[in-house]
Amino acid sequence: MERVVITEGPEETMRLGEELAGELKEGDVVALVGELGTGKTTLVKGIALGLFVREPVISPSFLLARTYHGRVPLHHLDAYRISHVSELREVGLDEFLPPEEGITAVEWADRVEELIPPGSLWIELEHLSGDRRKLTLRRY
Ligand SMILES: Nc1ncnc2c1ncn2[C@@H]1O[C@H](COP(=O)(O)OP(=O)(O)O)[C@@H](O)[C@H]1O
Ligand SMILES: [Mg+2]
Repeated sequence: MERVVITEGPEETMRLGEELAGELKEGDVVALVGELGTGKTTLVKGIALGLFVREPVISPSFLLARTYHGRVPLHHLDAYRISHVSELREVGLDEFLPPEEGITAVEWADRVEELIPPGSLWIELEHLSGDRRKLTLRRY
């Protein structure tokens, strides 16, 4: 089953994330795929909002991973700098795939596809034009 959502601006993408947060369960992985600037981090900000995280969510690019504390922990991973899945394993981040506690959101998930557990929520983000983004959601 597939769901397609078109958003007209960052607020709408955040709103979608907030809505998704209500449907996520502990142990879930949200796998985000899309070019730079398509709204992956913005969507995670919305998920954080929906999980009642109070800290500001920043792009984890330089740190690879951050954990935020909300209704449940939210682990935010970014595979942008990963050139091989073994690097993620070396730094121990595969422990969040899937997480024992809380929810994991992974940006650039296609780069570490073999580490993404079956049954994850895959979200593909595309830049249409201006502030319009197309988000395709599928669980597999
Ligand atoms: N519909 C939209 N959804 C999400 N972000 C949007 C949208 N329209 C414009 N933007 C802007 O695009 C940028 C997306 O950045 P970010 O979420 O960091 O993307 P990514 O993590 O995919 O690189 C932000 O500057 C945001 O304000
Ligand atoms: Mg990002």
